[in-house]
Amino acid sequence: MINLLSLKLDRPLILAPMDGYTNIPLRLIIKETGADLMFTEFVNSDAVIYENKKTLDKIRILSEERPVAIQLFGKKPGNMAEAAKIIEQAGPELIDINFGCPAPTVSGHGSGSAILKDLPLLSRICESVVQAVKIPVSAKTRLGWDDSSINIFQTAKIFEESGISMMTLHPRTKVQKFKGISDWEYIKMLKRELKIPLIGNGDIVKPEDAVRMFEYTDCDGVMIGREAVKNPWIFRQIKDLLRIGTYEADINFEERKRLCIRHYDLSVQYLGERKGTLEMRKLYQNYFRNVPGVKNLKKRIFESEEPAEIKKMLEDFNPEIDDLSEIEQVE
Ligand SMILES: Cc1cc2nc3c(=O)[nH]c(=O)nc-3n(C[C@H](O)[C@H](O)[C@H](O)COP(=O)(O)O)c2cc1C
Repeated sequence: MINLLSLKLDRPLILAPMDGYTNIPLRLIIKETGADLMFTEFVNSDAVIYENKKTLDKIRILSEERPVAIQLFGKKPGNMAEAAKIIEQAGPELIDINFGCPAPTVSGHGSGSAILKDLPLLSRICESVVQAVKIPVSAKTRLGWDDSSINIFQTAKIFEESGISMMTLHPRTKVQKFKGISDWEYIKMLKRELKIPLIGNGDIVKPEDAVRMFEYTDCDGVMIGREAVKNPWIFRQIKDLLRIGTYEADINFEERKRLCIRHYDLSVQYLGERKGTLEMRKLYQNYFRNVPGVKNLKKRIFESEEPAEIKKMLEDFNPEIDDLSEIEQVE
């Protein structure tokens, strides 16, 4: 049982922070499909302090998506503390610190996974943020910089000593990025040593994987990233599997269409007509995975920026008719 002030969660299923994806519309969709805790996209501590408009939009949270963790990255302990205080005003249940991002835009500037090369700095950042706010602070990290410098056990000890309340491990190194496998053995080993709750993450692509991660590692919660975007129903499927031992594997076409239209509506509502329309372009393929005619649908939708027109195309989408037109085009 995870018990952190207002946050009380029993073996939670958690939406991973994903830059460019875990915005309000996706979080509301995932809330509907059964996740227990949402992570925002990460935000840069300096951009929070300078009140960058796009960054402030990213730390906005709604009451209906709670509980929510807002994730922060940066390399200066003082700025991280100041940004954390601002973030606390947005009302999340948790502030999470990113010590795992391998992207050059983050680690290339000394933040995210780069801090795994400087554990005294990691310690100062954790202490500064923990002391700056009243709400619990968690941290998300990787195994270490590369295979020859795996330092996760030292990192985890520093988290505990500096007052971090919960941690997430994505057991790959920075150099690995997303290559190879997420080595759950480390989650299992760390769980045996750790006093704070441990969230396991990495390579959950079907409901059975989540159950296996709980059983194999004894972790306190599981976090799902890429598959949540590809299959937003995965949270409901995992819950059913845990509760009744089975789940609906093939989401029917009507449900796919319903949730896609709902996601489009939420995108327009919360991101605005243009941004919402453009952001949705990344997602149609996932909603209609393996549905005949989706290529044609996308082609038509991408030609329009008119929400009413796009909604009508989605509502009228009929795989059989669209499939025929695809065949005709090939001929
Ligand atoms: C597009 C994308 C964006 C990501 N952005 C973040 C981020 O902002 N913060 C973070 O801690 N991890 C980020 N991650 C990593 C995920 O949170 C997660 O740790 C990783 O994808 C492994 O989990 P998965 O196998 O379930 O996808 C991102 C991953 C992807 C694919």
